[in-house]
Amino acid sequence: MENILIIGAAGQIGSELTLELRKIYGNGHVYATDIKEADRDVRESGPFQLLDVMDDKHLIHFVIRHKITQIYHLAAVLSGNAEKLPNAAWHINMDSLMNILEVAKLVEDVKKVFWPSSIAVFGPTTPKKLAPQVTTMEPVTVYGISKLAGERWCEYFFRRYNVDIRSLRYPGLVSFKTEPGGGTTDWAVEIYFDAVRKGSYLCFLNEDTKLPMMFMADAIRATINLMELERSEISLHSAYNISGPSLSPSEVAEDIRRHIPDFSISYHPDFRQAIAETWPESVDDSLARSHDHWKPTYDLTKITDTMIGEIRKMTENK
Ligand code: SER
Repeated sequence: MENILIIGAAGQIGSELTLELRKIYGNGHVYATDIKEADRDVRESGPFQLLDVMDDKHLIHFVIRHKITQIYHLAAVLSGNAEKLPNAAWHINMDSLMNILEVAKLVEDVKKVFWPSSIAVFGPTTPKKLAPQVTTMEPVTVYGISKLAGERWCEYFFRRYNVDIRSLRYPGLVSFKTEPGGGTTDWAVEIYFDAVRKGSYLCFLNEDTKLPMMFMADAIRATINLMELERSEISLHSAYNISGPSLSPSEVAEDIRRHIPDFSISYHPDFRQAIAETWPESVDDSLARSHDHWKPTYDLTKITDTMIGEIRKMTENK
């Protein structure tokens, strides 16, 4: 019997992952938590509770009381927001991870932990194309530094305390259910919402800035696949590279015009341009693919068709 704790269930990943895990493990066995209210479907389809992962005493009580066996820790301050308050972002991102690792170490029932890493672990000295799994990593953002340090801590807890922690270096995630907040790849979500609702988009990156992206359904599948692998099949307890299509704003804009011919885009790069320029254009995820035969199913065309279709439905139903 699995009992799963989701931290960050109101967020971009958590709001979708919670519902998928409830389908697999049963509604009553997936405990959704966040520091803010989650969507109605997350709150009403199973247990939801406000919980602050920074509060280690409440966290451990919660885990013991509900006999939690797996934790997905998805709460984080993303790259753009983290640059505004670097010290606070560092503490939130690192202390929350350390609280989870400590709980997993102390509570015997907790068998597995998932924590997301990111392409932000790479930096300007990493190869731009097909960034390898093991390569030079000199991140220049506080978010990237916290993810790289986090990867090392995950590996440390595995080696030292046998904590089974699993992780993926997510690229920018494209989704329609819950928008991200404060990330450098947020444009790839905003562009679709603004295309449907306004017919135009003011992009905070340059037109030709290409970054690795992935549609949320693929990211969720990759995550659940990774967590379902036998422990003996996991060769990395830091984080696997994982990737979908590499996309630039002008390519996405062009594809949107298949649906909205008059769609217009203008560019006003802000501080996030400098962040994007330190990240690779694409990553080599062959190790992850060889492990569980995972591969992405959404290319740009399918992402655009799904995003436009779903956002139109949501807009009409309002
Ligand atoms: N999507 C994240 C960000 O832009 C990267 O992991 O901050």
